[in-house]
Amino acid sequence: MSSLRIFLLSIIIIALLTTLWTIGGFKQDPLITETLSIRGEPLNGSKLFKINCVGCHGISAQGLVGPDLHEVTEQLSDKKIINQVIRGLTPPMPSFEIEPQSMADLLAYMHSLS
Ligand code: HEC
Repeated sequence: MSSLRIFLLSIIIIALLTTLWTIGGFKQDPLITETLSIRGEPLNGSKLFKINCVGCHGISAQGLVGPDLHEVTEQLSDKKIINQVIRGLTPPMPSFEIEPQSMADLLAYMHSLS
């Protein structure tokens, strides 16, 4: 193969990877990175949960309109759970604008359930 072909091929591969990276959601949100680096406080998470989430997930996260969250940290990765809360990808669950510390607290609360 000529070096020009190899050059063009590399460009195509790089372009493809970049597209996949962007549309595949491989790009990590800085809020996720930061949240994962913070130790959450389950008690505060429980308060945040009572304010924001019980309407749909039930007073003790047993499930109502939204699913039971007792085993959620065993079924989904922390990253997926954070995405679920901040992105609003599955209506009727809204997206939440949330500080990394609060998100870490909520996550710690969900871990304390299972
Ligand atoms: C308006 C109702 C509503 C509110 C408020 C709400 N949720 Fe949800 N939530 C849902 C519904 C409905 C689903 C299921 C979506 C689906 O079909 O995947 C869900 C799914 C989830 C899941 C994924 C569960 C799984 O097994 O896939 C998590 C985690 C979650 N919610 C956490 C939260 C947290 C934390 C809050 C508060 C910050 C919250 N939700 C507030 C309705 C709600």
